[in-house]
Amino acid sequence: MSSTLLGNLHIWSVMLFVIIYLIKTVLLFANESMLDKFTKITKVPEMIVSTVFLVTGIWLFVILGGIKTMQIIKLVMVFTAIPMAVIGFKKRKKGLAVLSFLLVVGSYGIAEVSKKKPFIKANVTMQGDNSTGLANGEKVYFENCAFCHGIDGKKAYRGASDLSMTGYDEIMIQEMVKIGRKGKMPGYDGTLSAEEIANVALYVAGMKNNPTPKVVE
Ligand code: HEC
Repeated sequence: MSSTLLGNLHIWSVMLFVIIYLIKTVLLFANESMLDKFTKITKVPEMIVSTVFLVTGIWLFVILGGIKTMQIIKLVMVFTAIPMAVIGFKKRKKGLAVLSFLLVVGSYGIAEVSKKKPFIKANVTMQGDNSTGLANGEKVYFENCAFCHGIDGKKAYRGASDLSMTGYDEIMIQEMVKIGRKGKMPGYDGTLSAEEIANVALYVAGMKNNPTPKVVE
């Protein structure tokens, strides 16, 4: 399944899940007998929705191959919220139900914000000396860019451009790396230093003439 389709399924199931929980939380305060009815009616749909949302979430996580700090926070929040909700609604503990709802909404917010954030960089060991700008740029590239753009720049993961064919020069590339691209590629301003950005741009600009990369892992 494509990552875009999975992503959409995930977002829709999360939204449905949040809506069901919002209604349940309101009913817990307003009308407990209505809550019983609602819970009965939504029992099966809720099981389907939450299964879809957990399975697509885990699946996305596995195929993405990279992780962001905010995604870790999100996961912890979701996995704290679920047992809290179960207990909260079963035992009619209003505080717990509200807290769990807030955690779910909060993790949804975090997911939105983290879209623009870079992934935690990969651990890369390079052969030889990487003290020159170009060699350092290569290292920065493998750490941060390769899992979308590929080792040779051609991977095109999530619609990434083929960097071995780019017509942009170093200066343009620097700008793109700083600000990111149309919500599809994260911006690296603040994550990478100005020097690292300059180095990686130098490396990317020269990719078309690049022989085999010397990455070790
Ligand atoms: C999350 C995946 C992802 C990561 C990580 C990523 N990119 Fe991209 N990059 C993309 C996508 C997607 C596009 C195409 C965006 C568009 O449609 O304009 C792109 C486009 C580009 C372009 C424009 C090329 C052109 O010819 O249009 C450059 C340059 C670029 N990336 C460099 C980098 C560098 C350097 C890094 C690492 C510091 C990096 N990217 C990390 C996904 C990524």
